[in-house]
Amino acid sequence: MGMKTYRVAIIGCGRPAGSDDRTGAARGYAHWKGYAATGRCALVGLADIREENAQAFAAENGDPAAPPRIFTDYRAMLREVRPDIVSVCTWPALHAEMVIAAAESGARGIHCEKPMAPTWGEARQMAEAARRHSCALIFSHQRRFEPSFRAARRLVREGAIGTLRNLEASCANLFDWGTHWFDMMNFYNDDTDVRWVMGQIDLRAGRRIFGALVEDQGLSYYRYANGVTGLLTTGADGNLGVQNRLIGSDGIIELGVATREGTRVPLRIRGAGDADWRVPDLAADRPQAPGGTMGALSADLLRFLDDEGSPEPELGLSRALRATELIFATYESARRRARVDLPLQIEDSPLVQLAEAGAIGTPA
Ligand SMILES: NC(=O)c1ccc[n+]([C@@H]2O[C@H](COP(=O)([O-])OP(=O)(O)OC[C@H]3O[C@@H](n4cnc5c(N)ncnc54)[C@H](O)[C@@H]3O)[C@@H](O)[C@H]2O)c1
Repeated sequence: MGMKTYRVAIIGCGRPAGSDDRTGAARGYAHWKGYAATGRCALVGLADIREENAQAFAAENGDPAAPPRIFTDYRAMLREVRPDIVSVCTWPALHAEMVIAAAESGARGIHCEKPMAPTWGEARQMAEAARRHSCALIFSHQRRFEPSFRAARRLVREGAIGTLRNLEASCANLFDWGTHWFDMMNFYNDDTDVRWVMGQIDLRAGRRIFGALVEDQGLSYYRYANGVTGLLTTGADGNLGVQNRLIGSDGIIELGVATREGTRVPLRIRGAGDADWRVPDLAADRPQAPGGTMGALSADLLRFLDDEGSPEPELGLSRALRATELIFATYESARRRARVDLPLQIEDSPLVQLAEAGAIGTPA
């Protein structure tokens, strides 16, 4: 059986590992490793405003017999290469224009880095473009393929902590990292609709991560349609000491538990009948596909592209939108000083707007 080979292009290559002038994590390399692990992808195009980044990427990952074409203008790349799949690995402010251009160029699949975009309006425009062009759009909420997070959801589904009641998480900020935790809490709760969000943000210093403004401390409390509650606390002073906590009627699961020795326990559970915490074996929760997390999520995208009647990719648009809506609904609750009922009806980023108005936080 001849399985289709997909022609892949990457926008935003980053610097190779070990370079002393890195500007970020060079996610393009991780994306390509995922595609390569499927054995069904050819690297045909690279775009980067720093041509040397694309050259280095091609030298490390390109097929010498059929090297990828290199561009400094991503629009020219889309026009001339017409890739089947495009990865967008630039900073958030560029995601919307690049995803929309890729969808308009006829790409069948797009894998864009998280967070979706710095405003809720741009996130919705990306979604609209993908739907209009019937393009499968996924976002790098890759923890849905990582063993500890999969194990947590499996244990919930098996009833190991009884009925799920409350989800808690903490991290640096609601946007850059928070998008992962909102997505994980949705994942544990079977992507159930959220009814309302109460939030607060403090912006006393004002930091930028990958060019995007983030709060110094934040709080998001929300309720799902099935009654489960979510709580995300952000900033160093708001840290819960665990990355995620799942509280059920008969037990608790914790992920990313900081130990006194400064390491982290990936997952521990104290269920009904457990006298103490136990650390379950995660072997059964490793994805089947080769290439680890990135291989598995790439295989899942190809699975959908092979048969577009099959279920949406695990990292698909509807799930990315749910996580993103929670970010902006939290900001909006801070702006309105009130509970926000979903769906969220705004276009801007209340965080940016509040910062510009000097309306939150205290002077540094
Ligand atoms: N999923 C994750 O776990 C994870 C981890 C780290 C970063 N990220 C996200 O990945 C995204 C990219 O971050 P990174 O760390 O890979 O960045 P990076 O700085 O390592 O790479 C970005 C690349 O984009 C290029 N670029 C900038 N403007 C461009 C343009 N107009 N056209 C083409 N190329 C352009 C830069 O020259 C650079 O090579 C961010 O949104 C970030 O939040 C995700």
